[in-house]
This record gives sequence, C-alpha cells and structure tokens, in this order.
Amino acid sequence: MDMSKIEKPESSVKKQYDLSGRYIVITGGAGFLGRTFAEAVAEMGGIPLLLDINQTYVDEAVQYLVKKGYKADGFEINITSKENVRSVVKQIAEKYKQVHVLINAAAFAMKNLQEGGAGFFAPFEEYEQDLWQVSIDVNLTGTFLITQEIGKIMKAHKYGVIINVASDVAVISPDHRIYEADARFGYEGVPFNTPIAYPVTKAGILSFTRYLATYWAKDGIRVNSISPAGVYRNQDPKFVEQLVYRIPLGRMAFPEELKGPITFLASDASSFMTGGNLIIDGGRTIW
Ligand SMILES: NC(=O)c1ccc[n+]([C@@H]2O[C@H](COP(=O)([O-])OP(=O)(O)OC[C@H]3O[C@@H](n4cnc5c(N)ncnc54)[C@H](O)[C@@H]3O)[C@@H](O)[C@H]2O)c1
Repeated sequence: MDMSKIEKPESSVKKQYDLSGRYIVITGGAGFLGRTFAEAVAEMGGIPLLLDINQTYVDEAVQYLVKKGYKADGFEINITSKENVRSVVKQIAEKYKQVHVLINAAAFAMKNLQEGGAGFFAPFEEYEQDLWQVSIDVNLTGTFLITQEIGKIMKAHKYGVIINVASDVAVISPDHRIYEADARFGYEGVPFNTPIAYPVTKAGILSFTRYLATYWAKDGIRVNSISPAGVYRNQDPKFVEQLVYRIPLGRMAFPEELKGPITFLASDASSFMTGGNLIIDGGRTIW
C-alpha cells in the first residue's frame, strides 16, 4: 500500500474538534435536540443549516443562534416529499456549494406522537396501519430521501460526515412497565407509551447507518449514529421516577450532554470511526 496517498490526521486534538467553516445540515433543526445540536456545532465554529417542517420555528431557531453571534441559516422542508427535498437541497447547493455534515434528527418523535392523538398509543393489536405508516414515512423514508440528495453533494467533494439520530430503543426494547400503573409504587401510569413503529424505525436507522458506512467508505463519507436515552423535557415526575430506576446513573440526560458526542462525530476527532453507534444512555442499555 502506498502510504504517501493516505492523509495524516491533524495531531492537535483541539484542531481535530474544530468545525470552522463547515456547513452542517440538521434535519429537525428547529426541534428540541436539533436546536441543541445546532448550538453545539456553532460553538465549535460550524455553520448550521436548519431544516424543519415549519418556517416560523425554523426562523425562531435561526434567530436564536444569530443573536448569540453565530452564523446560521434555515429552510422549510418536508423530508417525506422527494420533490421538496430535491428543491431544498438544490437551493442549499447553489448557496453554499458544499455540505460537510448532515445530522438526521427529524423524526416522528414523542412530541408529534402526543399531538397526533390517542390513536398513536393504541394497543398493538388495534394499531392502525396509517399511524404505523406515518413513522415509517418520516423516520425512515424521509431520512433516506434527504441522505440521498445530500450524499450526492458529499460524494462530489469526496468528503462528508453523516450522523443519524437513533435511540436507546433502537438497541433494546422499551420497558412497557414504565407506562403502566403500578400500585406498589402508588404509580397511576401515563396516557402514552412507545408505539411499535418508533423502535422499529430507529433500529432500521442503525442498519441504514451500517449500509451507507460501507457503501460510501471509498468516497470519503463517514456515517455513524447516536443512540440517546430519554432527555429531560418537563416530563411527569412520577414517570421520570419509573424511567430513571432503569438507568444506572439514576437520571435522564440533559440536552447539553449530547453536545460533546455530536461534536465528536461531526468533526475529524472521529476520523477513524464509521458505521458505529454511539450510545449515550447513562447505562440504560447495559442491563
Ligand atoms: N428527546 C429525547 O429524549 C430523544 C431520545 C432519543 C432519541 N431522540 C431522537 O432525537 C431526534 C430529535 O428528537 P426531539 O426530542 O428533538 O424531538 P422534536 O419533536 O422536538 O424534534 C423533531 C423535529 O423533526 C421535525 N419533523 C418531523 N417531521 C418532519 C418532516 N416530515 N420534515 C421535516 N421535519 C420534520 C419536527 O418538526 C421537529 O422539529 C429524533 O430523531 C428522536 O427520535 C430523542
């Protein structure tokens, strides 16, 4: 092997983590964790380009970053529409030429599920096919469509980093008991649960990650995922008690605790990592 053709990594770890001048597309960028990821990469010098389904929320999220002195931009998108994805990515390519990092954080997640109504929390035996389909469309098909288009830009530049946001329940099953009443603890249960499509799509994201990691390895594109466990977001304290009982560190995550992992994966600090799944779960998945 001709070693002279292999690019040596930057030796300073500070420089390895630096994201200066990198354009970083974040789907679900106006969402709860999307905003945290955007702030993290902006703090490291990157320029987040936020993509989300609602222009008002996109504008708010961009303004928040701009007010803090960071560069940022935003685009309204519905990642489930091939035409819409193509047209938005075309605008991004014309304006910025290169996309260095893609963070796939958009998902039909808990907030959407709760707003979607009780049907999303129906028992498995009664679960409506169209509600199952909604999660498949956003979490898998949407991720597929945007990655396809951004991947073309990355391939042309022979450089790219993709981070897919999975979940602890991509690795383990949800523990259904945390939602159910339990008289022993005076726990009345909660009116929601983790519907089957969520962990199934998130497990699919791990396979999507591994497939593209090997497929694009020769093109300079690295593909990894992160699997966070539950993040604090004003959940019912009784529910939190049930959940944290299952987490060795005895608590949920603070959103800030995902800033380090996302920066590590987005930057050249993780230059020898591809196809991996970084689990950030306080130990939730180890017992
Ligand atoms: N919050 C947690 O505890 C947690 C834990 C593990 C994994 N995750 C994952 O992290 C990611 C972000 O979750 P979150 O908690 O910030 O949820 P969130 O609902 O706040 O953010 C998701 C964002 O995706 C956007 N979105 C949904 N459908 C879309 C579409 N068709 N086109 C474009 N955008 C669309 C939503 O508008 C929203 O802003 C998700 O992939 C979620 O599954 C979250």
